[in-house]
Amino acid sequence: MTPEHKLETQLQHFGENRQDYHGAVVPPIFQNSLFTFESWEAIDAAFDDRTKNCIYTRGKNPSVSLVEEKIANLAGGESAKLFGSGMAAISAAILHFLQPGDHVITVQNIYGPTNNLLNAYLRRKMNIEVTYISGEHIDDFAGTITERTRLIYLESPSSAVFRLQDIAAVAKLAKEKGVKTIIDNTWATPIFQKPLGMGIDLEVHSCSKYFGGHSDIVAGVIIGCEQDIREIAVNEFELLGGKMAPFEAWLILRSLRTMPIRMQKHQENALQVADFLEEHPKIRSVNYPGLPSFPQFELGRKQMSGYSGLLSFELAMDDLSQIKNFFNSLKVFQIGVSWGGHESLIYAPAISYLKELPPEQFKNLGISLGDMRISVGLENGDDLVEDLAQALEL
Ligand SMILES: Cc1ncc(COP(=O)(O)O)c(C=O)c1O
Repeated sequence: MTPEHKLETQLQHFGENRQDYHGAVVPPIFQNSLFTFESWEAIDAAFDDRTKNCIYTRGKNPSVSLVEEKIANLAGGESAKLFGSGMAAISAAILHFLQPGDHVITVQNIYGPTNNLLNAYLRRKMNIEVTYISGEHIDDFAGTITERTRLIYLESPSSAVFRLQDIAAVAKLAKEKGVKTIIDNTWATPIFQKPLGMGIDLEVHSCSKYFGGHSDIVAGVIIGCEQDIREIAVNEFELLGGKMAPFEAWLILRSLRTMPIRMQKHQENALQVADFLEEHPKIRSVNYPGLPSFPQFELGRKQMSGYSGLLSFELAMDDLSQIKNFFNSLKVFQIGVSWGGHESLIYAPAISYLKELPPEQFKNLGISLGDMRISVGLENGDDLVEDLAQALEL
């Protein structure tokens, strides 16, 4: 493999030294917890660099390392570290940069557990202060940086409403001010968005979504420069112990082979579904960065080369029984909370909100009973549109 090979080719062959395992076209799974050595001298030498040598699988395992190399190559990063979940990767990345008493700037609508980690857990444990901004204007960031600001944490597009941040502009500002940056790039994936190339320090993903793509694993990854990843490997990764299972890494390797064509199909289907919903009289609004009517469509085109399959819309219905009727009448869309898999899914955020709030308070928080989130899968696009159409008819 040379760097000139295009990404689809890299994903089939990069890092795979097939002569090392009898020419097998699929690498074996190293399903072992430890590695043995011939002598005192050999194990002693291995301990000289625990991040480069296989000693124990909570540190390094060849099945996991191969996928880390492939993901780093795909994202244009120097190095990557896989974790047992997206949240394990996110918490390790955040802890890597923070000291007690630091200030963090982030955007409204970041993924709920990330928000709880920053604003509840780390506020309580480490006296971390968090400021939320819309993130749509670079001045919002500039005006919020203080002497204590250590980290800007981005999610572009953000959860639920898919608002964007100008990644290159934020990275430039942060560098000027000596502030570190992390972005959750799960929605766009490195197939459609490359934040490290725009100057971001660390990119994090839930690999449970498009990297896995088959709804059969929970995993996460951090991608960045050699030094940051090495420090994370010996600190947050090894000490907190959120390691990646070799079998699950092997499943990601399988999924990486088809990632570019899967992402193209998610995009094609999602655009078809979003176009249909936008024109439908029983839909109030659609949030999808791929629609020309999306308020930040131009920024999206500047920093993303495509759009994935997660979007939200609001039903033009206020009656809960009518909303439930739509939801329960879908036949192809399955009901569930995750996203990024082969299957199309629907979830209504009101199911969670109603546990804590009466519907009368929804308006003040900018949420609606009729808000729906769908993950558009790999089925036939016409079938998906017909499924939504029949449920909207009822
Ligand atoms: C944007 C985003 N980031 C991170 C996560 C967390 O990933 P995981 O469930 O793999 O821990 C999720 C999960 O839904 C997510 O939607």
